Amino acid sequence: MTKPRFITFEGIDGSGKSTQSRLFADALRAQGTDVVLTREPGGSPGAEEIRQLVLTGDPDRWSAETEILLFTASRRDHLEKTISPALEAGKTVVSDRFADSTRVYQGATRGDLRGMVDRLHELMIGREPDLTFIIDMDPATALQRGLARKSGEDRFEDFGLPFQETLRHGFLALAHAQPDRCVLIDGNRTPDQIASEIAAYA
Ligand code: ADP
Ligand code: TYD
Repeated sequence: MTKPRFITFEGIDGSGKSTQSRLFADALRAQGTDVVLTREPGGSPGAEEIRQLVLTGDPDRWSAETEILLFTASRRDHLEKTISPALEAGKTVVSDRFADSTRVYQGATRGDLRGMVDRLHELMIGREPDLTFIIDMDPATALQRGLARKSGEDRFEDFGLPFQETLRHGFLALAHAQPDRCVLIDGNRTPDQIASEIAAYA
């Protein structure tokens, strides 16, 4: 049996993470791998409740510091209740977003809070994925795709295009800083083209 892997998908809003994490989980299952497909914020009942607090309402609802605490709390619950038990049971975990999202969204967009994000991560989470796909794409197109869904969870999309541009650069910097774990994927293609590139890692 191969070692269970913890694999994450990251990128700006509307970049195709949910679509690709689903297709990748399908590819893994097709080759007989036991997979838990999950997402953040959320992925456990408690973390899904926190999701509602952070994704709905006024863009100014939380300070950047409070937001870091809420995302870290939801991740801790997700790790305790879903990710760690699955890995211990020998399953592969595929998560749509994880700690890199906090590094970029909370760490690099409203002042430089990256140090605080990193300290809290070390204290409360202390685990990195084995493999991370960072889907890169044009923020204007991604924003259109994301808002077209009208999910009602658009608090971050509501910050607008310049915010998404900053996020894109944050994710690119992260991919370059951690090349042994991160794979940069060009998201400006059809879903099938992207999925077949990613399936090579199944
Ligand atoms: P994310 O999880 O990154 O927000 P989604 O996978 O939910 O992205 O995709 C956002 C929207 O764009 C969805 O309506 C989805 O069907 C569509 N979509 C996803 N990937 C592509 C693609 N490669 N080309 C065109 N549309 C896409
Ligand atoms: P998601 O449901 O993946 O949104 P989308 O499909 O639009 O990409 O994530 C919800 C939002 O939460 C997204 O705008 C990014 C934000 N987020 C953070 O700001 N910090 C985090 O740590 C996480 C996990 C998500």
